[in-house]
Amino acid sequence: MVMNNTFYIETMGCQMNKLDSELVAGQLQNLGYQPADNPTQAAVIIFNTCSVRQHAEDKVISKIGQFRRRHQQQKDLILAVIGCMAQRLGQDLLDSHQQVDIVCGPGQIHQLSKMIADIQNQRQRLLNLNDPAENENLENLDTSRQHHDSPLPFMAYVRVMRGCNNFCSYCIVPYVRGREHSRPIEHIVDECRQLTENGVKEITLLGQTVNSYKYQDNNQTFTLADVMKKIHDLPGLARIRFVTNYPRNFDERILHAMADLPKVCEYLHIPAQSGSDRILKAMNRHYTAAQYADLIQKARDIVPNITIAGDFIVGYCNEDDQDFNDTKALVQKIRYKNCFIFKYSPRPGTRADDKLADNVPDPIKRRRNTELLELQNQIACEDNQQLIGKSVEILVEGPSKKPHLNIPQNQLNLDDPVLQLTGRTPGDQIVVFNGTRKLIGQIINTKIEKASALTLFATYESP
Ligand code: SAH
Ligand code: SF4
Ligand code: F3S
Repeated sequence: MVMNNTFYIETMGCQMNKLDSELVAGQLQNLGYQPADNPTQAAVIIFNTCSVRQHAEDKVISKIGQFRRRHQQQKDLILAVIGCMAQRLGQDLLDSHQQVDIVCGPGQIHQLSKMIADIQNQRQRLLNLNDPAENENLENLDTSRQHHDSPLPFMAYVRVMRGCNNFCSYCIVPYVRGREHSRPIEHIVDECRQLTENGVKEITLLGQTVNSYKYQDNNQTFTLADVMKKIHDLPGLARIRFVTNYPRNFDERILHAMADLPKVCEYLHIPAQSGSDRILKAMNRHYTAAQYADLIQKARDIVPNITIAGDFIVGYCNEDDQDFNDTKALVQKIRYKNCFIFKYSPRPGTRADDKLADNVPDPIKRRRNTELLELQNQIACEDNQQLIGKSVEILVEGPSKKPHLNIPQNQLNLDDPVLQLTGRTPGDQIVVFNGTRKLIGQIINTKIEKASALTLFATYESP
């Protein structure tokens, strides 16, 4: 049965969107709405969308399509599309989908509950796109957050900045998330304090280019390293992470903070996007493959156990075999822990889409994607073998999604049964092991027995 104060949110896209969904859910719960387990039970259905690739948008359009009939039958159903795709498509989304009631950009989500109430009082359709004048009100949404209902209450994302100024030629993010804006450091520290007082052990600081955080207060400039220093000694906090980094003008103080502050995890997600200087230039990335490799070397010199993760785009406009070979050479040189590899997807309104033809055929994009992934997996698998026999510290996140290991028969029928759990090392490696539910949310030691490219298989050692 549908109760008219129930809502359901489905989230696509990056960590920013996950955080936004959490904030929207908190806002609705404060007003007395209840989360529903699935969309069929909910009176308000929210899609928090991503625009970074066409595929992400297609998925949402197909999901929206499934609601056409139900919207006609259930007159009080409210369908809201929020986030980056809502911002990109705006009025078009309302025009082409009668079942959509609300289109709300990522900069206006603090107004979502009011919009829902307005519709419930007076049936109408609402469009609300980003307005930089609303930044302060948007900021209030982050600072007034509650984290209690999260499925992983011991881990939290904290935004340090919004938007991006880089305008990489292929990327839609600056258009849908607006210009770079660093949050006041005292707001970030207060938010982290509140979270740790409520049991959060791991905080991930978020920004599209998190390493360029800069906040000026009374002639003093605070950087990301300062944020990490200021939150480091919060009681209960065990781990600090930060994503995602941009390679140009990388502030070395961040690397020193990683080396000097024990709670800062030795993990750097720093996308290169390509190993070809010609393509990097066309992408407007402002660095060469050699400069990128030098930066990674410097990171390894300052933080010896650091793990590196990256992103690559294959099949960018005019990418030829030589360019792709340069990308493979960079992957070989860096030895990433893992890489996210994407086929170039033209985004309307970006410079690449305006000026360049998407001229690498899809089968070649697919082949390069597979080839790069195979190379990366082979490297990660080799490097992970070095960890066998070692003891690693993990934060246990919960049951693993698929069974990997046999659970000993004699452990199956205990009061607190043994199940397969996953956790992450400070270097962000995924560890699977057999243990009991009470370990979830704890930091424990495990011993690595076996390793594949993306997973370490371990046994439980000690708390
Ligand atoms: N701010 C982050 C990335 C945000 S988007 C950064 O600069 O690192 C996440 C990843 O999506 C990017 O790193 C890039 O690899 C990929 N991406 C962005 N636009 C894309 C496009 N048009 N086609 C394919 N992949 C894209
Ligand atoms: Fe997009 Fe480039 Fe900004 Fe990352 S740095 S969000 S890839 S424009
Ligand atoms: Fe997607 Fe928006 Fe994040 S476009 S990747 S959800 S910032």
